[in-house]
Amino acid sequence: MTSPELDPRMLLLLDWIDHTRPRRLAVVMDPNTERHCLPLISALLPPHTDFLCLSKDGEAIKSIEHAHALWSSLEEAGYDRGSALIGLGGGTVTDLTGFVASTYLRGLNYWLIPTTLLAMVDAAAGGKTGINLGGAKNRIGTFANPSGVSICPQFLSTLPAREIKSGLAEHVKHLLIAHSPEEAFHRLSQLNVDEKLADSDEFAPLIMESIDIKENIVQQDPTEVTGTRQLLNFGHTMGHALESWAMAQGLSLLHGEAVAWGLSTELTLSAARLKKGSPEALKFLALRDELNQKFPCPVTPPVPSELWTWALKDKKNADDAVHMVLLSERGTPLVHQAVTWGEFATACSANTPPSSNPA
Ligand SMILES: NC(=O)c1ccc[n+]([C@@H]2O[C@H](COP(=O)([O-])OP(=O)(O)OC[C@H]3O[C@@H](n4cnc5c(N)ncnc54)[C@H](O)[C@@H]3O)[C@@H](O)[C@H]2O)c1
Ligand SMILES: [Zn+2]
Repeated sequence: MTSPELDPRMLLLLDWIDHTRPRRLAVVMDPNTERHCLPLISALLPPHTDFLCLSKDGEAIKSIEHAHALWSSLEEAGYDRGSALIGLGGGTVTDLTGFVASTYLRGLNYWLIPTTLLAMVDAAAGGKTGINLGGAKNRIGTFANPSGVSICPQFLSTLPAREIKSGLAEHVKHLLIAHSPEEAFHRLSQLNVDEKLADSDEFAPLIMESIDIKENIVQQDPTEVTGTRQLLNFGHTMGHALESWAMAQGLSLLHGEAVAWGLSTELTLSAARLKKGSPEALKFLALRDELNQKFPCPVTPPVPSELWTWALKDKKNADDAVHMVLLSERGTPLVHQAVTWGEFATACSANTPPSSNPA
């Protein structure tokens, strides 16, 4: 964004501030978004705006300690119910800001400005907020829609290539949910995952497609009552188990990287439920192979029993069984699929490359 004041996608934020006239207004950000993103919008903000920069970045900020620090800052500064927050950052900042805004004084208005591709295609849409508990992902949270979301792909110009790729993995999840296996394979094979686009505005169509797919599902089941919304969790039972395990080990694994492995393992599991060698099973395995080739997992997953322990903590579970989203024979995603330990272990082992974790 060369001239932030003129970016039309920020006008709605300005309208919102003009219209709601928050008594106090704070921007929540992490050290990277303070450095790279705040300068692009600071001229737009009212003079009395406060800036709350978290002490770290990444998944570690989705914790009760960081939520507590923000609640305390708001309390000390006298924020009341007429105040508002702006979350400026990736999915960790948007999840935490939404959680803090929706719980402080039973709810403040908030606005999101996602600054990673992952947050633009997924995290900032849909109104889910959350923090982690005991290393398990998103155990505490609320459904609380922001007053608005400003998506400006220009923020992506400072985002490292690895983070861009992580965001593309969530986009691939949307393609798999919304399209036939043939179409999803075609789209995946066309996707350029390693070359950074010179003009980040070129990401705009991909972002809009992802948001459309997500919003369409969210509208059918906003607070996950019927289960339709769980379609968006395709790849996430396995992905979250791997992500939580990696976090506990201190290994570097991004959310989208975990999701890519989760998708390929859940495709393996979906194929294993079909007749071996059938055209449908082969389509799922072709998708799995293409995913693994485009998104090689940067860590070697542990033995399946370790992942099973983490998968048992997944929010979708019921009756002590692991439940996940799997593809039907026709390639349609199905929620509430109870998976046995045997199926789980076979799929994990079949989708684990030789060890490459640091000793
Ligand atoms: N609420 C939801 O519906 C939902 C959906 C998907 C994912 N999520 C959550 O999103 C989180 C992952 O989000 P993420 O991948 O954006 O991670 P992130 O927020 O940790 O951001 C990734 C890194 O990029 C840095 N960064 C952000 N914007 C930047 C920019 N423009 N330039 C340079 N650096 C920048 C951050 O400081 C961080 O180091 C996970 O916790 C996941 O559970 C939530
Ligand atoms: Zn995700």
